[in-house]
Amino acid sequence: MTEPNNTSSRPVVAVLGAGPAGLYAANKLAQEGVDVLLINRDIKPGGLAEYGIYFDKHKMKNGLRKQFDRILAQKNIAYMGHIEVRQQGGTLTLEEFEDLGCAAYLVAVGAQGTRKLGYDGEDQISGLFHAKDLVYHYNQLPPFASQEFSIGQHVGIIGMGNVMVDIAHWLVWEKKVASVTILARRGPAERAYTDKEMREVIRAVDLDALDVEIARIADNLRSVGQDPEALKKELREPLDKAEVFDSPTRMAFRFLVGVNKLIAGPDGRLAAVELGHNQLIQKGDRLNAQSTGQTEILPLDTLVYAIGDQVDEGLGLPFRNGQFLTPSGPNPHEPEKARYEVKDPQHDQPRPGWFLGGWARIASDGLVGKARADGETAANEVLRWLKQHNPQSADLASCQQRLRTLLQQKQHPFVEYADVLTLQSIEQARADALGVPLFKFNTNEEMLAAIQKS
Ligand SMILES: Cc1cc2nc3c(=O)[nH]c(=O)nc-3n(C[C@H](O)[C@H](O)[C@H](O)COP(=O)(O)OP(=O)(O)OC[C@H]3O[C@@H](n4cnc5c(N)ncnc54)[C@H](O)[C@@H]3O)c2cc1C
Ligand SMILES: NC(=O)c1ccc[n+]([C@@H]2O[C@H](COP(=O)([O-])OP(=O)(O)OC[C@H]3O[C@@H](n4cnc5c(N)ncnc54)[C@H](OP(=O)(O)O)[C@@H]3O)[C@@H](O)[C@H]2O)c1
Repeated sequence: MTEPNNTSSRPVVAVLGAGPAGLYAANKLAQEGVDVLLINRDIKPGGLAEYGIYFDKHKMKNGLRKQFDRILAQKNIAYMGHIEVRQQGGTLTLEEFEDLGCAAYLVAVGAQGTRKLGYDGEDQISGLFHAKDLVYHYNQLPPFASQEFSIGQHVGIIGMGNVMVDIAHWLVWEKKVASVTILARRGPAERAYTDKEMREVIRAVDLDALDVEIARIADNLRSVGQDPEALKKELREPLDKAEVFDSPTRMAFRFLVGVNKLIAGPDGRLAAVELGHNQLIQKGDRLNAQSTGQTEILPLDTLVYAIGDQVDEGLGLPFRNGQFLTPSGPNPHEPEKARYEVKDPQHDQPRPGWFLGGWARIASDGLVGKARADGETAANEVLRWLKQHNPQSADLASCQQRLRTLLQQKQHPFVEYADVLTLQSIEQARADALGVPLFKFNTNEEMLAAIQKS
């Protein structure tokens, strides 16, 4: 690690990732008198608040953008975007990031890895997509914004959370596919989506087919103490305030099913899946899905995994089972709280000065409010560590200059907060001229050219 020069009485913390967790962590640190170097992969800040939340939720997204602007306008937060830290293929390695000479490092990069289900042909058969890639596409995050996603007419979605609903929303309202079938490994009572979100698509659901599906699994539901008639009513509740739209899409739920096998057509594209039937089995306080051995074939030309994400192992932090590792055992300061320190790669000890927050700590966990709370808790853990260890660091201007010099040596264009503001006003002017609520450039090159940074 480089020895800091221009040491500062105010410690500098490098926060990696300017999604909600990183932004609210930076805010907390700044309010407590700490300087923050906030480094982000994307040109624009916001993470999934910018590139995940459904694109037509303008009021919510603009409200969040305003809050983020207030955070980033603070003098002791220096934003540097279009910088990806990754062991291979990124802008900086983890070692180069650590060499910036900051006092502590808070990693809030979200859950950028995708989970696979391990089917034969999963990497060869076309027509299979991860929900996150589609979400990034319709929210115009480069490079996904300009990639082609060949969506067919008969789409299956694995998973029953709010991401499934967002994908169904896009398929029903924008792609207007012929059919969307939700493939849920457990039953209707185990749905993870919320009624408020389901209002966007419930009018596409074939309610007669829903009744037939509940009747099919009714005996199993009763055997675990669930009431099929009550569940039928619950599933219809979003109809009360349902959105009206014009789409030919017919949406259906299949409960208690898992995809056993992918079946490709002669063109190498998905043609069908073999579904295995499940039953609910009580295990401790959870109802698990267990195979009954029964199978059926469901024709589908497209399959989307909406089963949650995992962190990106390629960042280079200790990783197992989709998560970055923290040391084992309870939080040494507040035993009832989770641990936020990054695990040392060699020993089951904290890596001094390194912390995790938000979806980088627990992948796919909750709404913006939860990421905010987790980022702030992570910031508090950093503050406690700084107080205890009083580490030396370079001052913010030196850390930032060291980063600028490194990026210039690598001939890698980057943006600072003033550039983000310029980009925002250029895109707003385009939106106004086009008479649309939002305009976004689809590529980093276009954004950089617009602000004369390429
Ligand atoms: C499809 C979808 C829709 C959602 N809709 C809603 C909603 O309507 N309402 C709601 O409240 N919540 C919603 N959420 C949840 C919410 O978006 C998350 O809780 C929150 O964004 C997680 O914040 P985070 O900062 O941990 O991660 P992220 O938001 O993922 O932010 C991570 C940041 O890290 C940066 N980064 C990633 N990798 C690197 C790297 N290697 N180097 C440097 N920087 C990196 C990224 O550029 C990004 O800015 C939605 C989530 C999804 C997936
Ligand atoms: N509009 C919104 O407010 C909004 C929109 C999108 C996302 N979000 C939030 O973002 C977070 C992530 O959402 P999410 O939908 O990705 O995750 P989620 O809520 O955890 O739902 C994941 C779904 O995938 C299923 N699943 C997981 N692993 C599976 C496997 N191996 N095989 C088959 N099915 C599997 C789960 O079933 P089991 O229950 O059986 O595990 C569950 O139905 C959530 O907190 C969500 O509320 C909010």
